[in-house]
Amino acid sequence: MTFDRRIKIAPSILSADFANFGAEIRAIEDQGADWVHIDVMDGHFVPNLTFGAPAVAAFRKHVKTVMDVHLMIAPVDPYIEAFAAAGADYITAHFESGPHIHRTLQAIRATGKKAGLSLNPGTPASAAENLLDLTDLILVMTVNPGFGGQKFIENQVDKIRTLRKMIGDRPIHIEVDGGVTVDTAPKVVAAGADVLVAGSAVFSGGSVETPEVYGHNMRKLRAAAEAAL
Ligand code: DX5
Ligand code: ZN
Repeated sequence: MTFDRRIKIAPSILSADFANFGAEIRAIEDQGADWVHIDVMDGHFVPNLTFGAPAVAAFRKHVKTVMDVHLMIAPVDPYIEAFAAAGADYITAHFESGPHIHRTLQAIRATGKKAGLSLNPGTPASAAENLLDLTDLILVMTVNPGFGGQKFIENQVDKIRTLRKMIGDRPIHIEVDGGVTVDTAPKVVAAGADVLVAGSAVFSGGSVETPEVYGHNMRKLRAAAEAAL
């Protein structure tokens, strides 16, 4: 079976209504989301605090597609079991979250879940070199993690290109996260990304009462991305 590198749109619920996560998740999936990106922040690894494994377990009941859990936490290892039990499909840890990222990815894989490796803007592509056999997804941060609605960091496009070459035909997704819009999506797709995280670009202008706006935003994003293939 060939590896599915078709473009996937993964809306980040960080930009959703925090009082309505269940309805928001159902709305974005009904409107065409391929994955649901869940931003877990601990107020220590990043200067923001969102939710933990119990909340992610509650979200799981509403996710019909893929639950893509982005752990912006340090340490990661003590929480891997809990996020696996919560129903995550992908569990992504930051290269920068501690001294033993190789062991962290091994621990994620040991739960039977897919393992993701996230690289902050200051971390070179070469950081992934010795970890490719333990990785199902590489998440390239195109903003400094912690908040939605930030400006895309242009020099990360070269990193995406380098990673795409490094990966070759290994079954590893390249996911891009931060400032992904109709203007930046073509650049990252042309460089080799296949999974696009988008918070503000999907949620802005819409609501659970007007979910068709989410659908319109995602269709525009997908069209811009696919035009660059
Ligand atoms: C930032 C998060 C991103 C963020 C994306 O730390 O990891 O997923 O929610 O938001 P936008 O698409 O608005 O930059
Ligand atoms: Zn994220």
